[in-house]
Amino acid sequence: MASYLSVIGTPARYLPIGNTEPDLVLPDLTSGRWVFLFGPAGCGKTHRAVEILHAHFARVGKPRPSDWRPWHHGKRPAPGPLFVDWPGLLKAKVRAIGNDEAEDPILTVLGNRDVVLLDDVATERPTDFAIETLGEVISDRYNAVAPTVLTSNRSLDEIAATYGKRIASRISEAALVADQSGTDWRLAIARGETC
Ligand SMILES: Nc1ncnc2c1ncn2[C@@H]1O[C@H](COP(=O)(O)OP(=O)(O)OP(=O)(O)O)[C@@H](O)[C@H]1O
Ligand SMILES: [Mg+2]
Repeated sequence: MASYLSVIGTPARYLPIGNTEPDLVLPDLTSGRWVFLFGPAGCGKTHRAVEILHAHFARVGKPRPSDWRPWHHGKRPAPGPLFVDWPGLLKAKVRAIGNDEAEDPILTVLGNRDVVLLDDVATERPTDFAIETLGEVISDRYNAVAPTVLTSNRSLDEIAATYGKRIASRISEAALVADQSGTDWRLAIARGETC
């Protein structure tokens, strides 16, 4: 059965989560709450983040394809809930620079007041461009109290050291911070174990 989570850009690997029973014990984002999940590669951050979105949609209603349309002409429709591969978005933004025809891909997130999952933030090299772009998005969503789920291989201390305290302190103030370290699900799956 196709999963409704594809509507928001969730990668194929995590789509089956949309067909599971939502776990309503997971943090409730409806008041604009943030969740920050960190831990090493394979520990299940993205999986858990998608489960949190799935529980959120069980509370507020599922997004439908008609709620989100790419913008071509005329008035831009409000962007809806989104799964964002953060390093991919940064690369797309770089590609759009200097192309007058291309829309800045960051505009799908900036000003978006719906739930957004920013997957793998602060994992790229902390160039001025990467720091400024992440800072802009974090401030925008922080000021708007917009529900946000973030995952990272870096802890908040590491983000503060490499990306600066402004970004780290906004995340720490807004977010329920959860250390996902422990199991490497990829190794466990490869070994045929269940965790
Ligand atoms: N609770 C779980 N139940 C079943 N499978 C899981 C669970 N958590 C993670 N997995 C699976 O383990 C694999 C690794 O998980 P995931 O991609 O979420 O890791 P990650 O922490 O986001 O890794 P990375 O830092 O490399 O992005 C995926 O195939 C995922 O579907
Ligand atoms: Mg991941």
